[in-house]
Amino acid sequence: MTKESWNNLDNLRIRAIIQDMNFRKRPFKMLVRTLGLFFSKENRTEEMVRKSYDRISVGYDETWTRHMRDLTSDLINKLDIRPGEKVLDLTCGTGYASGLIAEKTGVNVIGIDNSEGMLQQARQNYPETCEFFHADILGYLKQLPDESADVVTCCWGLGYSKPLKVLRQIKRVLKKGGQCGIVDNTIFSLREVMVCSTLAFMEQPDKLENLMKFRFLMGKRHLWTWLRLAGLKPLDVWGGSKSYKVESGIKAIERLRATGAAAGFEYAAADADSDEVFRRFAEILEQKYLHDGNLSIIHRYLGGVAVK
Ligand SMILES: C[S@@+](CC[C@H](N)C(=O)[O-])C[C@H]1O[C@@H](n2cnc3c(N)ncnc32)[C@H](O)[C@@H]1O
Repeated sequence: MTKESWNNLDNLRIRAIIQDMNFRKRPFKMLVRTLGLFFSKENRTEEMVRKSYDRISVGYDETWTRHMRDLTSDLINKLDIRPGEKVLDLTCGTGYASGLIAEKTGVNVIGIDNSEGMLQQARQNYPETCEFFHADILGYLKQLPDESADVVTCCWGLGYSKPLKVLRQIKRVLKKGGQCGIVDNTIFSLREVMVCSTLAFMEQPDKLENLMKFRFLMGKRHLWTWLRLAGLKPLDVWGGSKSYKVESGIKAIERLRATGAAAGFEYAAADADSDEVFRRFAEILEQKYLHDGNLSIIHRYLGGVAVK
């Protein structure tokens, strides 16, 4: 072997070792980046979630409500809602639950949401039977008098706020014997998607710009405990999963973005980098989960009914 080819071989080895070291350093860099963002004072989660829902509001009923509405109506049917009762529907979105409740009360249901886009759809969907207000749910509850509502519902939005604080406020505003109904994603909903997006960012941790600080609950036991801690009496708690199939990673991401399931996540990378990160995210999704031309997206949910 010539001296030149030894040198080339050495260069290749050194390059491989450096590459390997860089690869090993990535999870560490990702951890440092994530912790830095987690503990940073700046928290843009609420702003980004609102921006996402404003953007998707027009197509939301087609992509999300059509697919998940049976779980929402299951919750509403478990509640004993009577004509004339005063009901608040927190995180009402486009108003699907509010509309169902109004069929039972026959009078105005109050829906609260902080996305103007979603509220615009809600007002179009239920112009007669519901009233919709733009507010943060926790702020809205705090200014209500004690014992002023018969029923309070929160469908698919509790984890965007501060669940225990919201439940304590719900308990305060409910009349004695009043009911609370919750249905929401668990923190493990879309677990596979979360793993793949983390892997995509792990390859380039510097591109992670914003971290979503959500507080989705772990499961039905967690909901039961939070209801008890809030001073409510759980009558029923449940959990389950619902999935749909798409044919590619790109389609999965398009669907997640359109349903709000990735609300806020789309702003995790800076605008200039997001196409690249999403492309890689789609590739990883396919590598890990595409089987026989199908990729399953699994939503894991929890629900509960409690009484004051
Ligand atoms: C998944 S959607 C659910 C909408 C509707 N409840 C449904 O069942 O289709 C979540 C909704 O929560 C709203 N939201 C998120 N955080 C909120 C907050 N802090 N205060 C009020 N609304 C909020 C969003 O704007 C969005 O409309």
